Amino acid sequence: MAWHVPAGGKAITGLFHRMWYHQKQRTWWSEDTTWLGTRVMKSPFDLWIYQEILARVRPDLIIETGTNFGGGAFYLASICDLLDHGRVLTVDIRNRPDLPQHPRITYIEGSSTAPEVVERIRAHAADTTMVILDSSHKCDHVLQELDCYGPMVSPRSYMVVEDTHLNGHPVSPRFGPGPMEALEKWLPAHPEFRVDTQCEKFFMTWHPRGYLQRRVDLAAQGQEA
Ligand SMILES: C[S@@+](CC[C@H](N)C(=O)[O-])C[C@H]1O[C@@H](n2cnc3c(N)ncnc32)[C@H](O)[C@@H]1O
Repeated sequence: MAWHVPAGGKAITGLFHRMWYHQKQRTWWSEDTTWLGTRVMKSPFDLWIYQEILARVRPDLIIETGTNFGGGAFYLASICDLLDHGRVLTVDIRNRPDLPQHPRITYIEGSSTAPEVVERIRAHAADTTMVILDSSHKCDHVLQELDCYGPMVSPRSYMVVEDTHLNGHPVSPRFGPGPMEALEKWLPAHPEFRVDTQCEKFFMTWHPRGYLQRRVDLAAQGQEA
């Protein structure tokens, strides 16, 4: 579907996006911005999109890189509870001692790209696996994650490259090469993924072009051996 954006719409959206992101003590970095009491570092618009993806795809396993306070994992596990389906595996280089405990969440400590960590996670891969990349947002790291985790994504399911809005897309123009630049390098060699722009329908997303759906018709390409 082609979206109609009214005149000036892009500028207004960009302004709102930058205001929302850069007043972080008030919005996403605030101690008061929580999911059932746990801090979560995502925009509510994107959380809603995640809920829609989970209801549609019903993944058996959701792999999240970057746990931090555990709010993202807790949110995903709560939606899994409502669907009565799915579990969450989340990895961080350093786990906090007070992470929310939930029967659907497994925490792993280590770098998301360390071979032993990737192997441990791969061993959990399920029929329908979804991946969310939200650890270090430096371009080289995201590129490595795309290579490690892309093959684990099931046809019709998603890999979300988070925070593609960094480095001026449209926030933090001085960030340097980040997730968007990694995506621009990686995607042309991976036609088995398509950018699902429907997931950008709320105008502001922190992951522009970052919602990647694995195509069913090219399922054999780049798949796990
Ligand atoms: C943006 S936060 C994650 C937010 C979380 N996903 C949420 O939704 O609330 C990024 C996290 O990535 C972690 N991190 C940084 N480098 C990493 C790496 N190489 N492997 C795994 N985690 C890493 C940091 O410790 C930090 O907790």
